[in-house]
Amino acid sequence: MPTEVAAPATGDVIRVLIVDDIASTRENLQKLLAFEDDISVVATAGNGREGVEAARQLSPHVVLMDVNMPVMDGIEATETLAVEAPQCPVVIMSVQGERDYLRRAMQSGARAFLIKPFSGDELLSSIRRVHELEGKKGTYLRQLQAASAGSAQVAAGTPVPSRGRVAEVHLVMAGKGGCGKSLLATNLATALRMEGAGRVCLVDLDLQFGDVGVLLNLSHGRTISDLVDSAQSLDAEFVDEVLADGPEGLRVLLAPLSPELGDLVRAEHIRGIFDILSREFDHIVVDSGGPFAEPTLESIDLADHVLVLGALNIPAIKNTKLLLKTLDSLKVAPDRVMVVVNHHDAHAAYDRGSIEENLRSPVALELPSEAKLVGASVHRAVPVVVGSPDSEVARRIRALARRLAPQAVAAGSDDGRRAAGARRFGFRR
Ligand SMILES: Nc1ncnc2c1ncn2[C@@H]1O[C@H](COP(=O)(O)OP(=O)(O)O)[C@@H](O)[C@H]1O
Ligand SMILES: [Mg+2]
Repeated sequence: MPTEVAAPATGDVIRVLIVDDIASTRENLQKLLAFEDDISVVATAGNGREGVEAARQLSPHVVLMDVNMPVMDGIEATETLAVEAPQCPVVIMSVQGERDYLRRAMQSGARAFLIKPFSGDELLSSIRRVHELEGKKGTYLRQLQAASAGSAQVAAGTPVPSRGRVAEVHLVMAGKGGCGKSLLATNLATALRMEGAGRVCLVDLDLQFGDVGVLLNLSHGRTISDLVDSAQSLDAEFVDEVLADGPEGLRVLLAPLSPELGDLVRAEHIRGIFDILSREFDHIVVDSGGPFAEPTLESIDLADHVLVLGALNIPAIKNTKLLLKTLDSLKVAPDRVMVVVNHHDAHAAYDRGSIEENLRSPVALELPSEAKLVGASVHRAVPVVVGSPDSEVARRIRALARRLAPQAVAAGSDDGRRAAGARRFGFRR
């Protein structure tokens, strides 16, 4: 039986349900949370089934869910809650090494993950963030409903986001490394500039092994780490100073100089940085690291388009399929997803139809393999779209850029918006 805990009935308190089969873990978590004025544990449960039952009855704001439990494990319980009590967001607590669990947890609809052992601060910020996001989601849904009811007025008491969002965000990701993410991201961002898409920023979110700086030969010395260090006082001017100047007037936010610095970049930093960038740019292209890395997950939320890059070999296709399924379970609408197939290490004759059938998704773009040309581009640190503009790779990436920035194409390359943008934010022509 779940144990209900007497809780103060104040309105602003985050009501938490703890589900873990180890009694001492439940107690420790409860003790930790007892110190927080804004958090209250409403019940504890010893297995997934009890957890689901308690969530149904008590509608907690956040459910902390262990993975390995008897009767019903945390993954199944999370899946059940996603259907039966979607208003109860789940934070999964799993042990390091349970990587497969992590993946399954993500597919099951969990909102956040804590890897055991985690610190009290990690626990608290995770609970608060998930709760806050859930609140935002509710606000957003209410606004949508208000808008679709034909009402220009947003429901009374609903906060209206104060900052206008400008930039379109294009996230480049892949099921595994080496598929050509960085090649596509650097060239797409440059191509957007060449196509007159306005202010473009390339963000290297491969925080451990980011190589945009090397690919574009930018030794600017300032990186995303500088923004994290000054997270409290971030403003557009400072962000502008940290951005490097890439080819064709592209601005670039570089990855940390060493891998361990990448760990210091948290989800809230990324949101803060994008908040500023999205008001200063028309397009943001994101190069990403691992598909399940925190920065990648964070940017999925922020992206208008998710470009899923797949190479043509069996493991890459398998991982692409898995990634597409994951995006689907994260409720990323199919029209936000574009599959790009890169031929660079194809070992067999390629049949587009069978790949589309296998992935159950149309292929938006194919990139031909051009080892010599791409090799030379990497060696010279000049994007293919600049160094070999007539090559097939360049032509296709420019066509993709036009597709992602149709307004620029329609308006021609000299529209007023661009000119206005040129005076702001160190925009280079
Ligand atoms: N279409 C292509 N033709 C030739 N070489 C390619 C192509 N796409 C990628 N490559 C090469 O494959 C390697 C991996 O690409 P990269 O963009 O660094 O992948 P990722 O960022 O996904 O790890 C690089 O050496 C790159 O130059
Ligand atoms: Mg890369």
